[in-house]
Amino acid sequence: MVVAIDGPAGAGKSTVARALAEDLGWEYVDTGAMYRALALKAVESGLEPSDEDALVRLARSLRLEARGDRMMVNGVDVSDRIRAADVTASVSAVSAHPGVRSLMAELQRRLARRGCVVMEGRDIGTSIVPEAELKVYLTASLRERARRRARQLEMPEEGSVLADLEASLAARDASDSARATSPLARPEGALVIDSTHSDVDSVVAAIAARVREQSSGG
Ligand code: DC
Repeated sequence: MVVAIDGPAGAGKSTVARALAEDLGWEYVDTGAMYRALALKAVESGLEPSDEDALVRLARSLRLEARGDRMMVNGVDVSDRIRAADVTASVSAVSAHPGVRSLMAELQRRLARRGCVVMEGRDIGTSIVPEAELKVYLTASLRERARRRARQLEMPEEGSVLADLEASLAARDASDSARATSPLARPEGALVIDSTHSDVDSVVAAIAARVREQSSGG
């Protein structure tokens, strides 16, 4: 069984997916981390995020392993570095290329085939595992997503900091939703959860209840 969780940036997909996987005793796969790992290597190599051929060549040369919380590239743990601002700023452009996406899709489908997986990203329910037993579209208001991001970064949840975070989340959502290949979209038949007013535990409990219901044939 696969649970696919998609949604806009900062909606809490990683936190929810990680906690859900732990609750169920399943694997957790963060597909955004895979795109971030490629974006990091592109930044380090001085590649332009617009250079599809070079990015595809680079992606082919890397051994990417998404192991739960940890992202490894050629055996090196890059989990912290992929969250840096320069990587976040370029990852959406890097991930938009069809050539890059088809390589990542291959890796991600292989991971999904193992079963008992909670996989999160932007196109999991629409394109990577459309046959997933449970598809979730997790969202929250832009203001709330920016507030959570500010808290995570230990920055003020107000004023120009909040406005800048809102602008960068909105720009990334617009670019992820507008790309031609497997854009961010709400999968057909998805359980839609707006977490603006709910905490992680209640979102995880709602999804876990649905998984148990479905796996007992209910
Ligand atoms: O979930 P995240 O913020 O770590 O994802 C980083 C970027 O990677 C996101 O802006 C778009 C891209 N991405 C994607 O295109 N498809 C996915 N399945 C996951 C992430």
